[in-house]
Amino acid sequence: MASNSRNHFSSKFGFIMAAAGSAIGLGNIWGFPTQTANNGGAVFLIIYLLMVFLLAFPILVAELTIGRYAQSNPIRSLKKISPKWKISWIAIISIVAVSLILSFYAIIAGWLIGYFISNGVKLLGMNNTANWLTTFSIARNLMLMIIFMLLTMLVVRNGIANGIEKCSTYLMPLLLVLFIIMTIYIFTQSGAKEGLKMYLIPDFSHLSFNLAISAMGQAFFSLSLGVCTMMVYGSYLKKDTNLPTIAAQVAIFDTAIAFIAGLLILPAMFVAQNNGVQIFSESGKLLHSDTLVFKVLPNLFNTMGTSGLVISSIFFLLMIIATLTSSISMLEVPVSCAIEELNQSRSIAVTWISVIIITISSIIIWNFNELFSFFVQLTTVYMQPIIGLFIALISGWLWNRNKVLQELKKGYANIQESFFWKIWPIYIKIICPIFMLLIFFH
Ligand code: PHE
Repeated sequence: MASNSRNHFSSKFGFIMAAAGSAIGLGNIWGFPTQTANNGGAVFLIIYLLMVFLLAFPILVAELTIGRYAQSNPIRSLKKISPKWKISWIAIISIVAVSLILSFYAIIAGWLIGYFISNGVKLLGMNNTANWLTTFSIARNLMLMIIFMLLTMLVVRNGIANGIEKCSTYLMPLLLVLFIIMTIYIFTQSGAKEGLKMYLIPDFSHLSFNLAISAMGQAFFSLSLGVCTMMVYGSYLKKDTNLPTIAAQVAIFDTAIAFIAGLLILPAMFVAQNNGVQIFSESGKLLHSDTLVFKVLPNLFNTMGTSGLVISSIFFLLMIIATLTSSISMLEVPVSCAIEELNQSRSIAVTWISVIIITISSIIIWNFNELFSFFVQLTTVYMQPIIGLFIALISGWLWNRNKVLQELKKGYANIQESFFWKIWPIYIKIICPIFMLLIFFH
């Protein structure tokens, strides 16, 4: 496909919503509160915020800028940045990483579908089916994962402006509103205060390098970095957009949702504990990684009587959409490469790539205890930050600084005089890499 025939996001707001849609998902609502609860609360929150703004944000700008400059898929984009050094293998590793992420993501997203449908099924009095949908089993996991993947395929097949942008534009703000309403409700429940304390009052005895590594991985996962997703989205961006501003808006929106999710879920955790739900094991860690979203929140909805059923349905529906706007951004990475590098049609690329991902996902489902956490760790704790490190090195060392400047100037004429330009080039070249290496090698 010639670059001038590429699809583009039709409006700036649409792009922000699509990129925020990619960023906002299970990482914010499941990953962040779970990690915060497991890592001592407020300290994790503080380190996470530092990681987002000091490490992830500069790399987000880099990914978006590379994509928009090259107006191409990640393989070709990296080739264009540095024809001399063979760096397009980084795009290939990203494709592997993002496919593995989608394989486990689709399983959890499937559970959301299960909880959503179970509400309707309960109304019809089919309690056994409702139970089946919300109880862990291979058959249920497989069925729901496949439904979720089919939904993802459907949106990605329809392309950028039609599928991705429309989906995100209305629903992300709605999610924010629902969260705020639920947070206000939770504060009226007994036990909530204890959760709030844990979330907002730091106990620095929890501080450790492991915590820093978890927070770094969580920041990269939440902002969809280090797997070329944002590079691909950047390549669909028009030349007149101001990249640092847009990146900041996406990072702030994403962090706000994670913060509010914590504000809801940590207090909800203690409210549920008050109601007799066991949450922590003897060692003080969460019993299961699915406890917060799939036990604590349903417990909260139960306390609300019949309106709980309505709120629960809206919550799970919005969550499904939030995960869908993330999963489509994952699938778009290999698909954009297959379309442009292998000259395939969008629907063929979507089909065969999804079949591979569904296969990997099925293997994980069959060996859940052995493989699930392994893949989560491998991709989010190691692959994403390491690839992110390479993106920083590439933008800082291999990409001609004047070319970067020219690209950024297209949407921000006075950038040379800005505070951003005084700091960012050096930052991405030296400070980010050193900081990341320090954390890794400690
Ligand atoms: N950022 C998404 C979330 O928080 C997950 C994601 C990771 C999306 C990598 C795209 C790429 O749920």
